[in-house]
Amino acid sequence: KQTVRDLDVKGKKVLVRVDFNVPQAKDGEVADDRRIRAALPTLNDILGRGGSLILVSHLGRPTGDPAKDEPFRLNKVAEKLSELIGKPVKKVNDTVGPEAEAAAKQLAPGGILVLENVRFNKGEKKGDVEFAKKLAGLADAYVNDAFGTCHRDEASMVAVPEQFPTGHRAIGFLVEKELQILDTLLANPKSPYVAVMGGAKVSDKILVIENLLKKVDKLLVGGAMTYTFLRAQGHSVGNSRVEADKLDVAKHVLELAGPKLVLPVDHLIADKPAAGAETKVVDGPTIPEGWFGMDIGPKTIELYSQVIKDAGTVVWNGPMGMFEVEAFAKGTKAVAQAMADSSAVTAVGGGESAEAVEKFGLAEKVSHVSTGGGAFLESLEGKSFNSLKVIPERG
Ligand code: 3PG
Repeated sequence: KQTVRDLDVKGKKVLVRVDFNVPQAKDGEVADDRRIRAALPTLNDILGRGGSLILVSHLGRPTGDPAKDEPFRLNKVAEKLSELIGKPVKKVNDTVGPEAEAAAKQLAPGGILVLENVRFNKGEKKGDVEFAKKLAGLADAYVNDAFGTCHRDEASMVAVPEQFPTGHRAIGFLVEKELQILDTLLANPKSPYVAVMGGAKVSDKILVIENLLKKVDKLLVGGAMTYTFLRAQGHSVGNSRVEADKLDVAKHVLELAGPKLVLPVDHLIADKPAAGAETKVVDGPTIPEGWFGMDIGPKTIELYSQVIKDAGTVVWNGPMGMFEVEAFAKGTKAVAQAMADSSAVTAVGGGESAEAVEKFGLAEKVSHVSTGGGAFLESLEGKSFNSLKVIPERG
């Protein structure tokens, strides 16, 4: 792909589509700035070469009712960016209106302008070309550094870059890095290749599991989806969370996977799915009546950790248990630690597991923590995105 390196940005206004859709605290402050930090290499590169920045992002899913949409403004995000990049940042209250136009016109080399939440405009979701023309009209070139949004066909992802000559469109360093790791995971993994899949629902992950089964040597299962698989095998799972209407899907996956799919050999169980519960460990596939399976057990931790350490490539999505409760966090923590200790190429993504790796302070010790939730998962499903098709290949 054409990257930001290929663009002549000196004296140019560069519209960078970033994904600053960050978690917010109750008071509106940015609760996790990882996605903002991840965009800095691209932003600093453009500024360093004498360009200026017009930044476009969404934040959350605004309702369209102005009274309810105040919390979706990008003011706090712009403040956080200013703090992280160490430069003044101008934030305006519209995306393509008079304020945005005036600020874009006045933008000097080295300047940074943050436009209002692009989803405040109806044309964004619809991929509207008229809206896209107005937005593109503010700048000389376009960079997509919003990996987390690449699975969306919204205007700022597809119709906006289409308004620029092909030589003026590129991906940023963050997207480039994400695509490189995905190439390793999907096309060039070093064996043994291990996938670790967790989370609550088999149904959310079915397409990822099916696609990865074609590539991996082993697929280790954890999280509540374990109990849907065990139930599908005919075991009693007590009060554990089960997707009762997905047992056929689980059976199909088990047949497809054969011995590649590994289920936990023991479980941490609790008398209630909450902090302060009574807990114990049970061996084997059966959870006693009245108990909840909450985490993988110690033998499974040992088994999975060894497989991860001996791997050539590991991809991990989804926690091993309800890790937000300390008593049920051991399995997730151990998988994160095994990834950190492994000499394999290790990639984590798709939301909660990335959060876990950050929480345990291990993000620097794995090869890659994706900034993508849905975008990372859909990539693993083998999907290709229109947002990337509109960026030309190099050369
Ligand atoms: C994400 O967090 O997955 C992206 O920012 C996309 O957000 P969306 O699911 O609201 O489109």
